[in-house]
Amino acid sequence: MKIWIALIVASLAVGAYAQCSCETMKWATCDGSPCTCHLMTGNGTKQVLDCTKLIPKCFLMQAEMYRARKGLSTRGIGGKPDETAFVDNDGIYDPDCENDGTFKAKQCNNTDTCWCVNSAGVRRTDKGDKDLKCEELVMTYWVRLELKHKPTSGNVDVANLKSAVADAMHKRYMNFNKDMVEEVAYDPEARLMVVDVKQPRGMRKSELTHMAYYMEKDIKALPLLRSQDPFTPTVGGQKLEFENILVYYVDEKAPTFTMKNLSGGIIAVIVVVVLAVVAGLLVLVFAKKRQGKYNKAQQRELDNM
Ligand SMILES: *[C@@H]1O[C@H](CO)[C@@H](O)[C@H](O)[C@H]1NC(C)=O
Repeated sequence: MKIWIALIVASLAVGAYAQCSCETMKWATCDGSPCTCHLMTGNGTKQVLDCTKLIPKCFLMQAEMYRARKGLSTRGIGGKPDETAFVDNDGIYDPDCENDGTFKAKQCNNTDTCWCVNSAGVRRTDKGDKDLKCEELVMTYWVRLELKHKPTSGNVDVANLKSAVADAMHKRYMNFNKDMVEEVAYDPEARLMVVDVKQPRGMRKSELTHMAYYMEKDIKALPLLRSQDPFTPTVGGQKLEFENILVYYVDEKAPTFTMKNLSGGIIAVIVVVVLAVVAGLLVLVFAKKRQGKYNKAQQRELDNM
């Protein structure tokens, strides 16, 4: 009798445990009934999550920084054999988030150096000090995903590429709006797929950039989703596995980096040329002065005589 009761209790507990989990965040801790899930962020703050949606990127970055500080793994168990993605991710900082998970326009990473970010949390101004002003949070309304896939046995069905990719994104990223997938270009030789995803200008939602962040992690590291299945859209019977992703952000207002079009090489050349000109001018000025003195000295000698 006692054994039966114990078994029933145990199975109920297992059932409850299995039901109470977070599809969109593998690091979430869930308990209670009704089931609530939360994520450890900042210095041990519990952020309550809505697991029916993609988790805002700002909360995800806070959680990553928290885990890095605690020495917790940001990878899963038995990660990919060749996994350098997290080291590669030098854009990570400890962000300040609004209560709803949007980025604050000004970010300082707990230091005295601050900068302004877009709605994807990506820096869009030069770095400044604590007094830097960031008037508003500028929306990223367009992301371009450059996806490189692994070699395939057959040809990729280009005609069906766009709908296949949009379907895969819709399924994987919590019903992501397929209409936002505006254009898909493909270069078979480079095995490169360029996906333009856009939302209407003026829209104040961030699903677009949350989705891009989940996809970046899916490809460069490991899925943030509870399910660790890789992102592999099927195009006309051909499974595509990705090996690299590059994300470009386009904001509603252009970023304000200074000299952003000048590469380091050009800047170096300009500096050298400017130094050479200044040195030349100095030499000329000194030569003139010397000559002047010499002439005056000669004049004085003549006067003395
Ligand atoms: C933010 O600070 C952490 C150390 O706390 C550092 O590792 C990281 O590189 C910084 N990120 C940026 C973008 O400054």
